Amino acid sequence: MQKSIFITGASSGLGKATAKLFQSKGWRVFATMRNPENETELTHLDNVTVLRLDVTNPSQIESAIHQVLHNHDIDVVVNNAGYGLVGVLEALSDEQITRQLNTNLLGVIRVTQAFTPFFRQRRKGMFINITSMFGLIGYPTCSIYSATKFAIDGFSESLAYELAQFDIQMKIIAPGGIQTDFAGRSLDGATHPAYQTLIDKVSEGYSEERISQFSTATQIASVIYEAATDQKNQLRYIAGADANQLYQERLVGGSEKQVQQLLQAFTQ
Ligand SMILES: NC(=O)c1ccc[n+]([C@@H]2O[C@H](COP(=O)([O-])OP(=O)(O)OC[C@H]3O[C@@H](n4cnc5c(N)ncnc54)[C@H](OP(=O)(O)O)[C@@H]3O)[C@@H](O)[C@H]2O)c1
Repeated sequence: MQKSIFITGASSGLGKATAKLFQSKGWRVFATMRNPENETELTHLDNVTVLRLDVTNPSQIESAIHQVLHNHDIDVVVNNAGYGLVGVLEALSDEQITRQLNTNLLGVIRVTQAFTPFFRQRRKGMFINITSMFGLIGYPTCSIYSATKFAIDGFSESLAYELAQFDIQMKIIAPGGIQTDFAGRSLDGATHPAYQTLIDKVSEGYSEERISQFSTATQIASVIYEAATDQKNQLRYIAGADANQLYQERLVGGSEKQVQQLLQAFTQ
C-alpha cells in the first residue's frame, strides 16, 4: 500500500528536498508551506498535494490536518519548518526571541500534538523531528536557536516513552550545515559591538569555502528517508559529516572536554 508523509516548511531547502525524495520513492506527499501560491515545482509532481500551513497559526494547523485526514491516512509527519536566529543574547529583541520559540519549538509541539490522537487511534505512526547539531552541542551566537533545538530533542525523547505503547515512533534528525536558504533568506539576527571579536571568530566558520563543504539538502533528506524506512528502534540520527565528527568528539572525549575546548577556541 502507498505510504503517506506530511511535511512542514516544504517551500524550500530540506523540506522541499524531502518532499521530492519521498515522491520519487512512490510515497504520497503532503507538502505544507506558508505561501503555497508561490510554489511552482511541487505542484507539478504526481502524488504531491501542496497545502497552506504556518506552524505559528493553530487554526491553520487544525484545518490542514483535518483536510488531509478527511480523505487520507498519514504514516509519517516530518516537523521541518524552522529558521535560524543568530546573534549574541544581549542584542536580540523580545520579538525576535518569541518568534523563534514560536516557530521552531511551539510549531513542532503543536503539529505533533494535533497528529497524536490520530496516530494513537490508528495504533501506528511516526514523527520525525528536525533538530540540528546545535541541538546537541551549544555554540556562540546560537543561544536561542540552540534553546529551541535542544528543547525539541528533549521533547521528542520524553514523548517517545508516552507513545511507544501505541506503536508510535519518535525520530530525531540532527543535521550539521546544509546548503539551503537557512543562512540567507531565512536567517534572522542582530549584532553587538562588545562581542565583535567573538562574532568575527564565529563568522570564520561560515566562509564560502566552509559552506561549500556543507551537506546538500538531498543528502540530509536521504537520512530522513532512512529513518522513515529502516524499521529500527533508533531515536537519533546525526546527519552530515560535520555533525558526525563533532558528535563523535563529544561521545569519545566526553561533553566537558569538548566544552572546555570550545571555550578556549572562542576566548583566545
Ligand atoms: N541549513 C542548515 O544549515 C541547517 C542545519 C541544521 C538544521 N537545520 C534545520 O532544517 C530545517 C529546514 O531548514 P532549511 O535549512 O531547509 O532552511 P530553509 O531553506 O530556509 O527552509 C526553512 C523552511 O521553514 C519554513 N518556515 C519558516 N517559518 C515557518 C512557519 N512559521 N511556518 C511554516 N513554515 C515556516 C520556510 O518557509 P518560507 O518559505 O515561508 O519562509 C522554509 O520552507 C529547519 O528546522 C532548520 O533549523 C538547518
